[in-house]
Amino acid sequence: MPVWLHAIEADITRLAVDAIVNAANTTLLGGGGVDGAIHRAAGPELLRECRTLGGCATGDAKITRGYRLAAKHVIHTVGPVWNGGANGEPELLASCYRRSLELALAHGIRTIAFPAISCGVYGYPMERAARIAVRECSGFAREHDAIERITFALFGSDALAIYEAELAQPMP
Ligand code: AR6
Repeated sequence: MPVWLHAIEADITRLAVDAIVNAANTTLLGGGGVDGAIHRAAGPELLRECRTLGGCATGDAKITRGYRLAAKHVIHTVGPVWNGGANGEPELLASCYRRSLELALAHGIRTIAFPAISCGVYGYPMERAARIAVRECSGFAREHDAIERITFALFGSDALAIYEAELAQPMP
Protein backbone atom coordinates (compact mmCIF):
# COMPACT_ATOMS: atom_id res chain seq x y z
CA MET A 1 0.00 0.00 0.00
CA PRO A 2 1.43 3.39 -0.87
CA VAL A 3 2.19 5.40 2.30
CA TRP A 4 0.25 8.44 1.14
CA LEU A 5 -3.13 6.64 1.02
CA HIS A 6 -4.76 5.62 4.28
CA ALA A 7 -8.17 5.07 5.87
CA ILE A 8 -9.27 6.19 9.34
CA GLU A 9 -12.49 6.26 11.30
CA ALA A 10 -13.15 9.98 11.80
CA ASP A 11 -15.51 12.90 11.63
CA ILE A 12 -14.14 14.61 8.53
CA THR A 13 -15.12 18.05 9.83
CA ARG A 14 -12.41 17.75 12.53
CA LEU A 15 -9.46 17.05 10.24
CA ALA A 16 -6.68 19.62 9.93
CA VAL A 17 -5.81 18.98 6.30
CA ASP A 18 -5.42 21.35 3.35
CA ALA A 19 -8.82 20.27 1.98
CA ILE A 20 -11.74 18.10 2.96
CA VAL A 21 -14.11 16.84 0.30
CA ASN A 22 -17.84 17.31 0.72
CA ALA A 23 -20.38 14.81 -0.66
CA ALA A 24 -22.76 17.53 -1.80
CA ASN A 25 -25.77 17.73 -4.12
CA THR A 26 -26.09 19.63 -7.40
CA THR A 27 -27.40 22.79 -5.71
CA LEU A 28 -24.33 23.08 -3.42
CA LEU A 29 -26.68 24.70 -0.93
CA GLY A 30 -26.30 22.13 1.84
CA GLY A 31 -28.19 19.04 2.91
CA GLY A 32 -27.95 16.21 5.42
CA GLY A 33 -25.17 13.71 6.15
CA VAL A 34 -21.60 14.87 5.74
CA ASP A 35 -22.76 17.93 3.78
CA GLY A 36 -24.86 19.15 6.72
CA ALA A 37 -22.04 18.46 9.17
CA ILE A 38 -19.52 20.40 7.07
CA HIS A 39 -21.82 23.41 6.71
CA ARG A 40 -22.54 23.42 10.45
CA ALA A 41 -18.86 23.25 11.34
CA ALA A 42 -17.72 25.80 8.73
CA GLY A 43 -20.38 28.37 9.60
CA PRO A 44 -22.71 30.50 7.44
CA GLU A 45 -19.89 32.02 5.37
CA LEU A 46 -19.55 28.69 3.58
CA LEU A 47 -23.15 28.77 2.35
CA ARG A 48 -22.65 32.38 1.26
CA GLU A 49 -19.71 31.39 -0.95
CA CYS A 50 -21.55 28.30 -2.23
CA ARG A 51 -24.43 30.50 -3.42
CA THR A 52 -22.03 32.22 -5.83
CA LEU A 53 -20.96 28.97 -7.52
CA GLY A 54 -24.06 28.21 -9.60
CA GLY A 55 -24.34 24.59 -8.47
CA CYS A 56 -22.28 21.63 -9.62
CA ALA A 57 -22.94 18.78 -12.06
CA THR A 58 -22.87 15.17 -10.89
CA GLY A 59 -19.29 13.90 -11.22
CA ASP A 60 -17.82 17.39 -11.09
CA ALA A 61 -16.29 19.39 -8.20
CA LYS A 62 -15.93 23.00 -7.02
CA ILE A 63 -13.73 24.54 -4.36
CA THR A 64 -14.36 27.04 -1.55
CA ARG A 65 -12.55 28.23 1.51
CA GLY A 66 -12.92 26.28 4.78
CA TYR A 67 -13.93 29.20 7.03
CA ARG A 68 -14.29 27.93 10.62
CA LEU A 69 -13.05 24.45 9.77
CA ALA A 70 -9.52 23.33 10.58
CA ALA A 71 -9.25 22.50 6.87
CA LYS A 72 -8.23 25.43 4.65
CA HIS A 73 -10.50 24.44 1.76
CA VAL A 74 -13.63 22.45 1.03
CA ILE A 75 -13.89 20.67 -2.31
CA HIS A 76 -17.55 20.04 -3.03
CA THR A 77 -18.29 17.14 -5.31
CA VAL A 78 -21.57 15.54 -6.34
CA GLY A 79 -21.68 11.77 -6.39
CA PRO A 80 -24.19 9.72 -8.38
CA VAL A 81 -27.37 8.32 -6.86
CA TRP A 82 -27.09 4.50 -6.97
CA ASN A 83 -29.62 3.13 -9.38
CA GLY A 84 -28.46 -0.43 -9.97
CA GLY A 85 -24.98 0.35 -11.29
CA ALA A 86 -25.68 0.25 -15.03
CA ASN A 87 -26.57 3.92 -15.33
CA GLY A 88 -23.10 5.43 -15.38
CA GLU A 89 -22.67 5.36 -11.60
CA PRO A 90 -19.11 3.90 -11.58
CA GLU A 91 -17.85 6.42 -14.14
CA LEU A 92 -19.50 9.34 -12.35
CA LEU A 93 -18.12 8.28 -8.98
CA ALA A 94 -14.61 7.89 -10.46
CA SER A 95 -14.98 11.35 -11.95
CA CYS A 96 -15.78 12.82 -8.49
CA TYR A 97 -12.42 11.58 -7.17
CA ARG A 98 -10.48 12.68 -10.25
CA ARG A 99 -12.05 16.14 -10.48
CA SER A 100 -11.54 16.71 -6.74
CA LEU A 101 -7.87 15.76 -7.01
CA GLU A 102 -7.39 17.92 -10.12
CA LEU A 103 -8.80 20.90 -8.23
CA ALA A 104 -6.57 20.09 -5.26
CA LEU A 105 -3.52 20.04 -7.49
CA ALA A 106 -4.47 23.35 -9.13
CA HIS A 107 -4.75 24.98 -5.68
CA GLY A 108 -1.51 23.69 -4.22
CA ILE A 109 -3.30 21.34 -1.83
CA ARG A 110 -0.98 18.62 -0.49
CA THR A 111 -3.19 16.84 2.05
CA ILE A 112 -6.80 15.93 1.34
CA ALA A 113 -9.49 13.86 3.04
CA PHE A 114 -12.43 12.18 1.34
CA PRO A 115 -15.62 10.80 2.89
CA ALA A 116 -17.30 7.76 1.32
CA ILE A 117 -18.94 9.77 -1.48
CA SER A 118 -22.44 8.49 -2.46
CA CYS A 119 -22.39 5.76 0.25
CA GLY A 120 -25.03 7.38 2.50
CA VAL A 121 -28.39 8.67 1.25
CA TYR A 122 -27.28 8.15 -2.35
CA GLY A 123 -27.11 4.40 -1.67
CA TYR A 124 -23.88 3.38 -3.43
CA PRO A 125 -22.71 -0.04 -2.15
CA MET A 126 -19.67 0.62 0.04
CA GLU A 127 -17.45 -2.19 -1.32
CA ARG A 128 -17.91 -1.07 -4.90
CA ALA A 129 -17.42 2.58 -4.02
CA ALA A 130 -14.27 1.83 -2.00
CA ARG A 131 -12.74 -0.03 -4.96
CA ILE A 132 -13.31 2.99 -7.19
CA ALA A 133 -12.07 5.47 -4.56
CA VAL A 134 -8.83 3.56 -3.93
CA ARG A 135 -8.20 2.92 -7.63
CA GLU A 136 -8.71 6.55 -8.66
CA CYS A 137 -6.76 8.03 -5.75
CA SER A 138 -3.81 5.67 -6.00
CA GLY A 139 -3.62 6.17 -9.77
CA PHE A 140 -3.68 9.93 -9.36
CA ALA A 141 -1.14 9.91 -6.53
CA ARG A 142 1.24 7.82 -8.65
CA GLU A 143 1.11 10.39 -11.43
CA HIS A 144 1.22 13.56 -9.30
CA ASP A 145 3.71 13.62 -6.46
CA ALA A 146 2.57 17.08 -5.30
CA ILE A 147 -0.20 15.35 -3.36
CA GLU A 148 1.44 14.09 -0.15
CA ARG A 149 -1.39 12.36 1.68
CA ILE A 150 -4.88 11.18 0.84
CA THR A 151 -7.05 10.21 3.80
CA PHE A 152 -10.31 8.28 3.61
CA ALA A 153 -12.29 9.55 6.62
CA LEU A 154 -15.01 7.02 7.37
CA PHE A 155 -17.96 6.66 9.67
CA GLY A 156 -18.05 3.28 11.42
CA SER A 157 -15.80 0.26 11.78
CA ASP A 158 -17.56 -1.58 8.93
CA ALA A 159 -16.67 1.16 6.46
CA LEU A 160 -13.11 1.26 7.77
CA ALA A 161 -12.72 -2.51 7.35
CA ILE A 162 -13.97 -2.32 3.77
CA TYR A 163 -11.49 0.42 2.86
CA GLU A 164 -8.61 -1.29 4.65
CA ALA A 165 -9.28 -4.48 2.71
CA GLU A 166 -9.29 -2.49 -0.51
CA LEU A 167 -6.08 -0.65 0.38
CA ALA A 168 -4.39 -3.99 1.11
CA GLN A 169 -5.03 -5.24 -2.45
CA PRO A 170 -1.99 -5.18 -4.72
CA MET A 171 -2.20 -2.25 -7.11
CA PRO A 172 -2.46 -3.22 -10.79
N1 AR6 B 1 -17.47 12.51 8.60
C1 AR6 B 1 -17.19 11.45 7.81
N2 AR6 B 1 -18.13 10.73 7.18
C2 AR6 B 1 -19.43 11.08 7.37
C3 AR6 B 1 -19.82 12.18 8.18
C4 AR6 B 1 -18.76 12.91 8.81
N3 AR6 B 1 -19.02 13.97 9.60
N4 AR6 B 1 -21.17 12.29 8.16
C5 AR6 B 1 -21.63 11.28 7.38
N5 AR6 B 1 -20.58 10.55 6.91
P1 AR6 B 1 -23.94 11.15 2.81
P2 AR6 B 1 -24.12 10.87 -0.15
C6 AR6 B 1 -20.60 9.38 6.00
O1 AR6 B 1 -25.34 10.70 2.95
O2 AR6 B 1 -24.53 9.44 -0.04
C7 AR6 B 1 -26.63 15.14 1.53
O3 AR6 B 1 -27.90 15.50 1.99
C8 AR6 B 1 -21.84 8.56 5.87
O4 AR6 B 1 -21.90 7.59 6.92
O5 AR6 B 1 -23.47 12.29 3.60
O6 AR6 B 1 -23.08 11.24 -1.16
C9 AR6 B 1 -26.17 15.93 0.32
O7 AR6 B 1 -26.66 17.26 0.33
C10 AR6 B 1 -21.65 7.90 4.51
O8 AR6 B 1 -20.83 6.74 4.61
O9 AR6 B 1 -23.59 11.50 1.26
C11 AR6 B 1 -26.75 15.14 -0.82
O10 AR6 B 1 -28.09 15.47 -1.07
C12 AR6 B 1 -20.88 8.94 3.71
O11 AR6 B 1 -20.39 9.90 4.69
C13 AR6 B 1 -26.66 13.72 -0.33
O12 AR6 B 1 -26.66 13.79 1.09
C14 AR6 B 1 -21.69 9.71 2.68
O13 AR6 B 1 -23.03 9.86 3.14
C15 AR6 B 1 -25.38 13.05 -0.76
O14 AR6 B 1 -25.44 11.69 -0.42
